[in-house]
Amino acid sequence: MPSVSEILETMDYGVAPEQNTEVKAWLAAHADGFGHFIGGAFTAPAAGASFEVLNPATGAVLAACAEGSTADVDAAVAAARKALPGWSGLPGHVRARHLYAIARLIQKRERFFSVLETMDNGKPIRESRDIDVPLVVRHFYHHAGWAELIEAEFPGMAPVGVCGQIIPWNFPLLMLAWKVAPALAAGNTVVLKPAEFTPLTALAFAEICREAGLPAGVVNIVTGAGETGAALAGHRGVDKVAFTGSTEVGRIIREATAGTGKKLSLELGGKSPFIVFDDADLDSAVEGIVDAIWFNQGQVCCAGSRLIVQEGIAARFLAKLKARAEKLRVGDPLDKSTDIGAIVAEVQLERIRALVEEGRREGSECWQASAPLPGQGFFFPPTIFTALAPASRLAQEEIFGPVLVSMTFRTPEEAVMLANNSRYGLAASAWSENINVALDAAAKLKCGVVWVNSTNLFDAAAGFGGYRESGFGREGGREGLYEYLAATPAKRVRKAAAAAALPDFSAAPAAGQAAENDVVRLDRTAKLYIGGKQARPDSGYSYAVRAADGRLVSQAGLGNRKDIRNAVEAANKATGWSGNSGHNRAQVLFYLAENLEARSAEFSARIDSLTGVGAEAAAEEVRLSIQRLTYYAAQADKYDGQVHSTRARHVTLAMNEPWGTIGILCPDEAPLLGLVSLVAPAIAMGNRCVVVPSQAYPLVATDLYQVLDTSDVPGGVVNIVTGERDLLAKTLAEHDEVAALWYVGTPEGAALVEKGSSGNLKATWAVDQTAIDWRDGSQGFGRAFLRRATQVKNIWIPYGD
Ligand code: NAI
Ligand code: MG
Repeated sequence: MPSVSEILETMDYGVAPEQNTEVKAWLAAHADGFGHFIGGAFTAPAAGASFEVLNPATGAVLAACAEGSTADVDAAVAAARKALPGWSGLPGHVRARHLYAIARLIQKRERFFSVLETMDNGKPIRESRDIDVPLVVRHFYHHAGWAELIEAEFPGMAPVGVCGQIIPWNFPLLMLAWKVAPALAAGNTVVLKPAEFTPLTALAFAEICREAGLPAGVVNIVTGAGETGAALAGHRGVDKVAFTGSTEVGRIIREATAGTGKKLSLELGGKSPFIVFDDADLDSAVEGIVDAIWFNQGQVCCAGSRLIVQEGIAARFLAKLKARAEKLRVGDPLDKSTDIGAIVAEVQLERIRALVEEGRREGSECWQASAPLPGQGFFFPPTIFTALAPASRLAQEEIFGPVLVSMTFRTPEEAVMLANNSRYGLAASAWSENINVALDAAAKLKCGVVWVNSTNLFDAAAGFGGYRESGFGREGGREGLYEYLAATPAKRVRKAAAAAALPDFSAAPAAGQAAENDVVRLDRTAKLYIGGKQARPDSGYSYAVRAADGRLVSQAGLGNRKDIRNAVEAANKATGWSGNSGHNRAQVLFYLAENLEARSAEFSARIDSLTGVGAEAAAEEVRLSIQRLTYYAAQADKYDGQVHSTRARHVTLAMNEPWGTIGILCPDEAPLLGLVSLVAPAIAMGNRCVVVPSQAYPLVATDLYQVLDTSDVPGGVVNIVTGERDLLAKTLAEHDEVAALWYVGTPEGAALVEKGSSGNLKATWAVDQTAIDWRDGSQGFGRAFLRRATQVKNIWIPYGD
């Protein structure tokens, strides 16, 4: 007779399949294929192209879906446009009732949606049932609440309009909820394109919309692959594009939408670090990394795919991890005791295999769990790579499969350095029983979400989204709602002055005679201001600056690419500014205001002589500039973050962090006020900046050098490069070390900035200078500028047990 310990050794789980008769019946009822959901009705399945949807665990065909054509996208956008006035005009309370109804209906069909999701995607039923679908429901409830509160909590804001939303296949229904719920709460209408591998829960959701009595056209679903997505993202009738998927496609969408005025949010890939310090609770950390990399077969944008473990415990930790991974059950996703299901599609499996083969060839050590894989479907075993170079492809690229790469560190500084050695910046996990060590790492990690002694925590009340090439914008929480809101178009008090004439940037002697008693003599050539010092332009050239009446006033340095690089370097070095307290920054801003005021008369005269606005308007411009400085000085220690109300016994800190270095290209109109209105919020929040002042009236900025010097602004915090705005904008847009870029100029320049940033995917704010009246308080300053000057990092800290 076998002993108890022998039984424990050999004991296996019996199979425990979730029944799927309901889903099978639903699929059978749609055996003729699915059409699109447009204007509240399902279209007949297109006579044209359709595609098959497979169950990746078996290879069986589940359904046929219509391949959305341009005409389908046109029809869906038209339906969304038609529904917009009615939907956005409803009181928030009524929209809340609709969202609430959707939440209730999904909740009542939780099991149906879980099974359908698992069959379509291949994820274990345990995950779709316990994680995906409950989070979907939570998201709709949470946003029903936002709809209720929208007028009270977001005064002066309006919906953006028609939203084109493109989602991936890894969390099909959850990504739908993340996109649709906030859009609807804010009063937008949507056209959503699910991923071609996993469109089924979105189509079932369309049925829920009908059942809930959602007005026709508020939600439209068009199925199809990349081309359909491209047609949607590029559609002229779309006001906002929200995308989750690969960085590669994110770039394409950034380029396609450049210069169109569309609002854009991108949630892209990641290579998120999972740091284990030697004082961590190792058993918990092992469970953590199992969840981080093997949840959803590792097909998670925020997967903890890079294990960074302290040297002294590395061997012990990896041994524990491998022992645990041996026990993971890979197999039928519908089996309730399955840990790891199927990879979504054959191409994805091939991609994973190819990367793993490459890692093996490169000589990294590869370990794989030994249990045999199912004989059919697309499966891949838990895999761990050790001994690989931090710069290798495997360590840098998103694999999007159950593959962990591991490296070691000696000191906390090295851990942070390794963690930040990535183009991405989506999420991170830090494990230490020492709160000081863990929070210090959390503060230094360049990513949008940090989980302390935890991983993969999500909640509708917390923001989610990345830094750097992981995209921009947030989903969830208050910060996520702003992506679906725009400032109510303000009535212009006054038409903006015609943009100043383009200066002559040629190096040839300027035509014309300088008047004898000019404000500044021609021999005084304004230089650039870099790292707290005046610097000659690298080109050695200057350009002629003319007054409103055409007189030659002076010369200004003609900055070039090299000057911008120097300025960015100086800004990047001035990190001390970002580490200062808000109070310290406030002191400097107050001092700036004080020193500017002391020289009011001089600045007014300069503005008047250059722009010809008249003495009174010039004096008003200086007065308003001083007031902007004091406003942002006051906000420096007040525009703070939030503690989100997420789960019980979790603190979720939403911290406003500075971007780092911001490029700022200033308008011509109101040359002092425009510059101050942009620079003050940026530095108040701890950013350093590279500023290109008004190209027509640069002398207003060059006069500021002395004010900056006498106001204790540390060198490198504000750098000023005069010259041709659009030329310098392009350099700033393409510069990898500039984290964000604000451009106020021409529509062509705005397009250039958005296109130019598609390589590094920096966050841009690019507007036509005639659209903003800087003198108008509702447009020229306020919290919107502070929001732009920061990015939110959500830090999760569980407590208790
Ligand atoms: P993908 O980025 O091509 O697909 C995401 C969505 O974008 C799908 O709905 C797709 O139809 C659509 N799409 C594709 N091309 C488009 C275009 N030109 N314009 C508009 N929409 C377009 O991702 P794919 O090819 O499925 O996976 C490739 C890799 O991307 C994965 O191995 C993974 O590394 C990464 N990925 C990352 C995701 C994330 O959540 N961060 C999600 C999915 C994939
Ligand atoms: Mg693709």
